[in-house]
Amino acid sequence: MTVQERQRPSADPEAAPWWRQAVVYQVYPRSFADADGDGLGDLPGVVSRVDHLAELGVDAVWLSPFYPSALADGGYDVADYRNVDPRLGTLDDFDSMVEALHSHGIRIVVDIVPNHTSDLHAWFQDALAAGRGSAARERYIFREGKGADGAEPPTDWLSVFGGSAWERVPDGQWYLHNFAVEQPDLNWDHPEVRADFVRTLRFWSDRGVDGFRIDVAHMLTKDLTEPLPSRAELAELPFDGQHPLIDRDDVHEIYAEWRRVFNEYDPPRTAVAEAWVDPKRVPLYAHPDSLGQAFNFDLLQADFDAGEFREIVSDNLALAAASGSSSTWVLSNHDVVRHATRYGLPKLGAAQRGRGAVKQGSAWLLSGGTEPELDRVGGLRRARAATLFVLGLPGSAYLYQGEELGLHEVAEIPAAERQDPTFFRSQGEEIGRDGCRVPLPWSADLPGFGFGVGTPHLPQPAWFAASAADVQAKDPASTLSLYRRALELRHQWQTGETLEWLDTGRADVLRFRRPNGWEIVTNFGAEPFPLGDGKIAVSSSDISDGLVPAESTVWLAPIA
Ligand code: NOJ
Repeated sequence: MTVQERQRPSADPEAAPWWRQAVVYQVYPRSFADADGDGLGDLPGVVSRVDHLAELGVDAVWLSPFYPSALADGGYDVADYRNVDPRLGTLDDFDSMVEALHSHGIRIVVDIVPNHTSDLHAWFQDALAAGRGSAARERYIFREGKGADGAEPPTDWLSVFGGSAWERVPDGQWYLHNFAVEQPDLNWDHPEVRADFVRTLRFWSDRGVDGFRIDVAHMLTKDLTEPLPSRAELAELPFDGQHPLIDRDDVHEIYAEWRRVFNEYDPPRTAVAEAWVDPKRVPLYAHPDSLGQAFNFDLLQADFDAGEFREIVSDNLALAAASGSSSTWVLSNHDVVRHATRYGLPKLGAAQRGRGAVKQGSAWLLSGGTEPELDRVGGLRRARAATLFVLGLPGSAYLYQGEELGLHEVAEIPAAERQDPTFFRSQGEEIGRDGCRVPLPWSADLPGFGFGVGTPHLPQPAWFAASAADVQAKDPASTLSLYRRALELRHQWQTGETLEWLDTGRADVLRFRRPNGWEIVTNFGAEPFPLGDGKIAVSSSDISDGLVPAESTVWLAPIA
């Protein structure tokens, strides 16, 4: 069977590759479970909670970076790509974790961060020591500054986290960092850079890793021909594959090589691209000859709104079909305000849809979680409805740790305890992402809510107790019970990768049917919706009298 044949959507999900309609659960390891009590989650901590993952019913875990790191950016500043941060464990612990997950039928996807290393990476330390003009500096992007003494940065480009994208080193040269100062961008024109990442992919594949999540997959290659354009000039350029910094066509040469490596394994290793690109260009990353799948972040940026959801679903199913991949659905991850909270804040409105909307909640975070007032109950109700809607869609669903507990974003983190470089680089004008990275509450009555015996590396609020996993496990109406039930049924009912929209006669109610007759009905509005016939198997709110309550989703069982 060719790769193309293996990856073609199948009416029989059993015959399709595992990842096409998988539920992938993101573990942010430093905040998941802390086995050694140092306040930082670790790999033995993941092992200690494998039962939770198995009971939840996920198909795979995506592990955010666990590599040695000074944590300038939550681990996305990698000092050594083929090792484990000693605070998180050892390579033996990694192997034990893979074994524990695999023995429960759970695959493992690890994060690869190829756009930049940590400034503590041996290559960057060599580059600093070797000085200007050295071979070691060629692996990064060093330039002379402007002005009489080169004291001005080479360009006025800004880093994603705020401030200049250039940093000066003691001998006077500048290096490019699109993210934090501690994250120097690599030079992907350099053959050693390319070869080293292939070695890394093989290293983890050989250890049993099933796939990779590729960080900022759209930024690796750059055209830095002098004279470099200014920020204003960059802003005028289209994203057509030739932009000097973003989404260049030539990045796909890298992924074609990686694909050849992935396909050396049986089953082929998978990859999912984090690529913030024009939707029309997503299929380039998701194509079977490239990474094979790409994140779709549209729902992260949308209101809880029937019209928006329907348009996003239709557009993304079409894109996935065009690429030969399956679609991905994401409501929360480690970079955005949790969806229970987003949906409890005033709607964004169509005008604000798009990249900037990822910052939804920033005003609320800046106020310490007081302004505008968060509708905690309504936010969670909408989040449960949205999740149940998403879990019924064709394609893979990416869940973020803690969303199965219905957690809200934590706003009340004192400035002195914040970690996100966004907070520091923006001089506090942006609060950043710490609020979705607070260590999980496992047990209401244990120190650190069962996360570990040490002081958690980000403070947990007292209200976490009510959301603790042990409390929710006993409650059939809890969000945890809802997720478990939904994943169990999704597993039983999974079917071909298509859907048919059914007319509901209401603009605020969406209803779709999967090929085997499994139906999903979401009432985004305030008025109850009469369901008619059908056996309700699971619902995000209490159901009575055959009415789907406001802001709720129900699943109807497939035709037997
Ligand atoms: C995307 C990651 O999701 C984010 O957490 C990180 O800060 C940036 N890439 C830089 O690596």
